[in-house]
Amino acid sequence: MKIEYSHMLYDQNPTLDKLQDKTHDESIQGQAYGQEEEIDTGKKKFYIESYGCQMNFSDSEIVASILSGMGFVPTQQIARADLILVNTCSVRDKAEETVRKRLRVFNAEKTKRPGTMIGVLGCMAERLKKKFLEEERLVDMVVGPDSYRDIPNLIATVEEGDKGINVLLSREETYADIAPMRLDSNGICAFISIMRGCDNMCSFCVVPFTRGRERSRDAFTIISEAQDLYNRGYREVTLLGQNVDSYKWENPETSHIVDFAQLLKMVAEVNPLLRVRFSTSHPKDITDEVLHTMAAYHNICNYIHLPVQSGSSRILELMNRTYDREWYIDRIDAIRNIIPDCAISTDVISGFCTETEEDHQETLSIMEYAQYSMAYMFFYSERPGTLAARKYEDDIPEEVKKRRLNEVIEMQRAISLKHNLNDIGKRYEVLIEGDSKKSGEQFKGRNSQNKMIVFDKIDGIKAGDYTNVEVTEATSATLLGKIIDI
Ligand code: SAM
Ligand code: SF4
Ligand code: F3S
Repeated sequence: MKIEYSHMLYDQNPTLDKLQDKTHDESIQGQAYGQEEEIDTGKKKFYIESYGCQMNFSDSEIVASILSGMGFVPTQQIARADLILVNTCSVRDKAEETVRKRLRVFNAEKTKRPGTMIGVLGCMAERLKKKFLEEERLVDMVVGPDSYRDIPNLIATVEEGDKGINVLLSREETYADIAPMRLDSNGICAFISIMRGCDNMCSFCVVPFTRGRERSRDAFTIISEAQDLYNRGYREVTLLGQNVDSYKWENPETSHIVDFAQLLKMVAEVNPLLRVRFSTSHPKDITDEVLHTMAAYHNICNYIHLPVQSGSSRILELMNRTYDREWYIDRIDAIRNIIPDCAISTDVISGFCTETEEDHQETLSIMEYAQYSMAYMFFYSERPGTLAARKYEDDIPEEVKKRRLNEVIEMQRAISLKHNLNDIGKRYEVLIEGDSKKSGEQFKGRNSQNKMIVFDKIDGIKAGDYTNVEVTEATSATLLGKIIDI
């Protein structure tokens, strides 16, 4: 089963897509799920489109599982759906605008087929709550990230002719017992949510308001999900949380506390052939213990996403990131010392409140220091209700934000190109994920450092196998290589 992206939308700078691995892009892509060959079984169909971070994509798989329990099957075609769902993101204004545009398309469908139900899920549902039903008249259902178990009741309410809404946040919900229905899966790589919510209060960020308090999922359910994926042929899991380093689960029977380093070890021990990745790490919480655990297990990938946001200590303080430039540099040094061939990627926000040219230069210089393999780069977008919106004026003119962002992008492009050219001649173990986008004669796969490499197929190997590849050519976006074993 092969599913194409329904559309790709980039909210800030079109040059970004050259630098970003689209499958891991945050908050700016929409993706529809379903089945390519749809045999009409007479079952009710749902169509789901997801925006935002990997957590949202992972949540859509929980929702799909709940719907499948009600007898629904997925479809890729809006025109065939009885239920149209959009899992939304509020992180930047542009992300919300994109969803509103899509809702207009869905509403046009509902006008043609009045029985169709439209539901809004996720962070925008949580942020706007009842307002959604008032603003978007044709929306039938508004469901926050902690209320997906209530979907069957909400659908029943809609079927009775009312609107359905549940945006209650929970301190406990982790959906630990729900086996996600893997959507858009290559059958090799899967996400596992290990926690929900966020207790940090970065002043620019809406996530603590839309996702609620941080809570960690039962470690044993995480291990059994990883084991089950391995048994079904998956070879890579990515452990997801807004701040994985603060994972902490207390076993209610023994009172033993499992922290992130221990969890990583437990997942790595499921099988040496199961690769383990994780996202996102927080500079204030990433410990040397986590780094030593990564170094000790070959199957824990040498890749850390460590958002810096800004290189200026003054701005970091206004952002309430709770670390400064020196602390961040110390963490970079620790990673380089403990895991010498570890790739590091980041998130950068340009043009935060009061940012001066000197602050901006400090961001460029920390990028130069850290030599990121990849970066998600944004300009600051004020979000209603956040600490920054309440306390600081959004005082950097848009053209200045954009100019600075372009300088950040240019800096990253040069670093990415240097990294990639440096890879020519190197040999990497690659997990084959499937055919390359351009040719059925070529495979694509990532190395431990999360870089995608495209190479010619040879007989006897298939998706899900590990193979050794030598890099032969590189651009700032792609590595080409050839298989060197067998
Ligand atoms: N929890 C992760 C962390 O702390 O690094 C990041 C989560 S956030 C969903 C993803 C990224 O979006 C952030 O790292 C930040 O760079 C960006 N972001 C969040 N709020 C933003 C805003 N108001 N304007 C621009 N970018 C924003
Ligand atoms: Fe937002 Fe900060 Fe939490 Fe990340 S750590 S989700 S940026 S509040
Ligand atoms: Fe967006 Fe919510 Fe994720 S705001 S980035 S979908 S946690």
